[in-house]
Amino acid sequence: PVEERVGDLLSRMTLEEKVMQLNQYTLGRNDNANNMADPVNDIPAETGSLIYYGSSPELRNRVQRKAVEESRLGIPILFGHDVIHGFRTTYPISLAQACSWNPALVEKAAGVAAQEARMSGVDWTFSPMIDVARDPRWGRVAEGYGEDPYANAVFGAATVKGYQGDDLSDDRHVAACLKHFAGYGASEAGRDYVYTEISRQTLWDTYLPPYEAGIKAGAATVMSSFNDISGTPGSANRYLMTEVLKERWGHDGFVVSDWGAIQQLRSQGVAADKKEAAEKAFAAGLEMDMMNRCYDAHLAELVREGRVSQAQLDDAVRRVLRVKFRLGLFEKPYTPESTEKERFLLPESLRIAEELAAESMVLLKNENDVLPLKGLRRIAVVGPIAKSRYHLLGSWSSKGDAEDVVSVFAGLEAEYGDKAELLYAQGCNFDGEDASGFGEAVAAASAADIVVLCLGEKRDWSGENASRSSIALPEIQERLARELAKTGKPIVLVLSSGRPLELCRLEPLSAAIVQMWQPGLRGGGPLAGILAGRINPSGRLAMTFPYSTGQIPIYYNHRQSARTHQGKYQDIPSTPLYGFGHGLSYTTFEYGDLKPSAVTFRRGDKVSVEIAVTNTGKMDGAETVHWFVSDPVCTISRPVRELKHFEKQPIRCGETHLFRFEIDPERDLSFTDGDGRRFLEPGDYYVIVKDRKVKLTLTE
Ligand code: IFM
Repeated sequence: PVEERVGDLLSRMTLEEKVMQLNQYTLGRNDNANNMADPVNDIPAETGSLIYYGSSPELRNRVQRKAVEESRLGIPILFGHDVIHGFRTTYPISLAQACSWNPALVEKAAGVAAQEARMSGVDWTFSPMIDVARDPRWGRVAEGYGEDPYANAVFGAATVKGYQGDDLSDDRHVAACLKHFAGYGASEAGRDYVYTEISRQTLWDTYLPPYEAGIKAGAATVMSSFNDISGTPGSANRYLMTEVLKERWGHDGFVVSDWGAIQQLRSQGVAADKKEAAEKAFAAGLEMDMMNRCYDAHLAELVREGRVSQAQLDDAVRRVLRVKFRLGLFEKPYTPESTEKERFLLPESLRIAEELAAESMVLLKNENDVLPLKGLRRIAVVGPIAKSRYHLLGSWSSKGDAEDVVSVFAGLEAEYGDKAELLYAQGCNFDGEDASGFGEAVAAASAADIVVLCLGEKRDWSGENASRSSIALPEIQERLARELAKTGKPIVLVLSSGRPLELCRLEPLSAAIVQMWQPGLRGGGPLAGILAGRINPSGRLAMTFPYSTGQIPIYYNHRQSARTHQGKYQDIPSTPLYGFGHGLSYTTFEYGDLKPSAVTFRRGDKVSVEIAVTNTGKMDGAETVHWFVSDPVCTISRPVRELKHFEKQPIRCGETHLFRFEIDPERDLSFTDGDGRRFLEPGDYYVIVKDRKVKLTLTE
């Protein structure tokens, strides 16, 4: 019926009405020339879509009423918004979420975000970002799920399911948008909006698998990327948007440009003016123009001139209408009125925020089991992050409010009550030269049994257009750490950041390090719980922490090199400080041997491998088993190992869990060529878990 209704509507639309469905303007923000001064009067009733900056149904409904009642065909507007890691209930940034290795929990968080957003007048989120990213200088690493294609695929798909549920029209879900298609994470030198050099081989190996998984999970829409790939901008890339996305993967939703990306085809040097930009983007398969008015100014003219075919225009409009019908906008164009109390910060939403923050935090170092803290009377809590609430929200925090954030200090106060005295000193600012607070910080440290030193990044140091040339913390923060270390008191370093950090100078000064990321509203409690031992840390890194900035790019699944014993740096180690998957626990997990169901197999067979993991320590905990495969000899040089499966399980003290990897050789052991064709070659493969590996042989 959706197709019939779309067809019927389309048959009644004029050229101008069709073009209007392909435009997106903004509503509720007055800081740029494209915005409408008076939303209700200035927004045309025929508008296709709006980026909605409001947080209440009221404004949306007023504008929607105009579309439904005053446009000739009554087509409702599609309201989009960047709901990235929560709407009002702000969850940890996506990079942190990936470190939880708990996709079911991530799906729940996305479900809450969807519900809060939809109840506030948002139908569509520009999320998830599934750009594989291996350069932590790039600020947008905060928004994705780390360096691994499979992890991005799994978390991206979980997030799509959380947003969209089973029925987009049910008032509780929003349409998802996979972004940024494609290769944005490879932006040269970590600078935003620039060019990339990605071979077709690497495109298929590394950058496209998360998108394929997101489309399989049912993502309604896709956003094109700003970057070019070897000279072809994402917003004019026919291969990606038409051949791969629509023809090969069968996507029947639509592609929206990134903000102003169509007109930026001029700056990228592939279009002389906006009209040519519109023609190129449209011809490549980009259906909706996010801002900058290329389509509303030129598309009708291009059709009249025969430079854009009527059939292609109809196809584009059909795609947009399809999403609107699936969202139920024609039946229910208005958002039911509700109070903020009814839709925001519900107890269960906050509980999920707390759980996800707890599972995202990574214990990077714990020398001599200094953590959990035991029998302390005085704890010095020092550093610019310690009482910060605003910066724990992270970038793109939508309607998140710093007032609702639990700081580290507040978390420790609640955890310790009168069991320990907290001595607070800020010590220094995030950056700058002012060392006048050092004295107070050193005094607090000297009077305490231990120092909890809370360092990190401001929230706007990562996110869009927020690259850094060095991933080290500013010198003033490192100096503070050095001064505190001179007191001889053990330092527990707590880090909040939107990217992996360079810790080579801070690590030797710290007895323990906890990476808390930007945890959103509920980080302080879980962090305190981890320090006190109420929570056993279970996060594992989804992105490598380089030893220093000079190692970038560094990631675990690099290809095999010619001289594995050489090619090292002369001045720094060649291995990262903390590799992909690293993360400590307060308990110990003992791994058994890898047990395959068969050591040889034939094409079409399924094989499985099991491993028993026992909690041999003194605390209940959760362990994530990462299953890697390697193909040591192949037609083309393959990565040293690639993640193909993972599973996180709670394991009580003394208990054993049997982890299992069901291998589908065509899926897990094959490789792709530069056009996405898969090959499975006879020969040896290894299945790898930690330092154990087992050989499987495809015989024929
Ligand atoms: O969704 C975002 C995108 O990720 C970056 N540019 C702006 C868009 C809309 O806000």
